[in-house]
Amino acid sequence: MTNAPMIDLRDTTKKYDDGPPALAGVTLSVAAGECVAILGHSGSGKSTLLNLIAGLDKPSSGTVTVDGIRVDRLGEAGSAKYRRASVGLIFQFFNLLDDLSVWDNVMVPAQLAGMGKAEAKRRAVELLGSLGIDRHAKAHPQRLSGGQRQRVAVARALMNKPALLLADEPTGALDSSSAEDVRRLLLDLNGEGQTLLLVTHDVRLAASTARRTIELVDGAVERDVINDGSGAGLAARTPLTRPAGEVR
Ligand SMILES: Nc1ncnc2c1ncn2[C@@H]1O[C@H](COP(=O)(O)OP(=O)(O)OP(=O)(O)O)[C@@H](O)[C@H]1O
Ligand SMILES: [Mg+2]
Repeated sequence: MTNAPMIDLRDTTKKYDDGPPALAGVTLSVAAGECVAILGHSGSGKSTLLNLIAGLDKPSSGTVTVDGIRVDRLGEAGSAKYRRASVGLIFQFFNLLDDLSVWDNVMVPAQLAGMGKAEAKRRAVELLGSLGIDRHAKAHPQRLSGGQRQRVAVARALMNKPALLLADEPTGALDSSSAEDVRRLLLDLNGEGQTLLLVTHDVRLAASTARRTIELVDGAVERDVINDGSGAGLAARTPLTRPAGEVR
């Protein structure tokens, strides 16, 4: 582990069209191996932040540096290469390819990264086994439950052993027992040293999974705190549920 931060944002702003900025001058740093929850209301800029870190989108101003790479300066090819090499992405709605089997979905990143066939096969077998979905390798994703699909998405994200795992509401579409499985899995991965950014609007999920919580309000960092593990103080201080009927 190096002393350089895994993620470093300096005064990073993202503006879409003419509205208020989706991210407004965010400066933050995440060390290698940290597990950080990103909390905030709908529209507060959580996915925008993840997209910038993943190089899927560019900031309007400011810098995004990941593992020493100026991600905001990468062109299309460079940013695709960076993602293949360094980033595992897990989305709320899985983003699996329904035309492909579970096995092929998991193999795609390895093929794109040019991993040798034998190694890719070994890795896929290992991941599907440890995630408990090896029985479904030949099935197509639409035949699986939400929890199973999310585990396929996790396997795919881990295929290239990314240094950084970005999870955007990974339990949002899951029932509570599948959500707990995915939560434990993410915790295990972080325990093995993987840097994890977990976007959620669930205060309890944040407090029970991450050591540190960053809360966004209107695209700015409102709070950046170390959790005590109980989640009690956090939940009490910040009611994240808007009053019924309030529209953004
Ligand atoms: N492609 C886009 N074009 C224009 N505006 C966008 C785009 N993507 C996001 N926004 C706006 O930027 C703001 C932040 O959106 P973002 O998706 O980052 O929020 P979020 O915190 O992830 O919300 P949610 O919890 O609902 O997923 C919102 O006001 C949204 O409307
Ligand atoms: Mg979002």
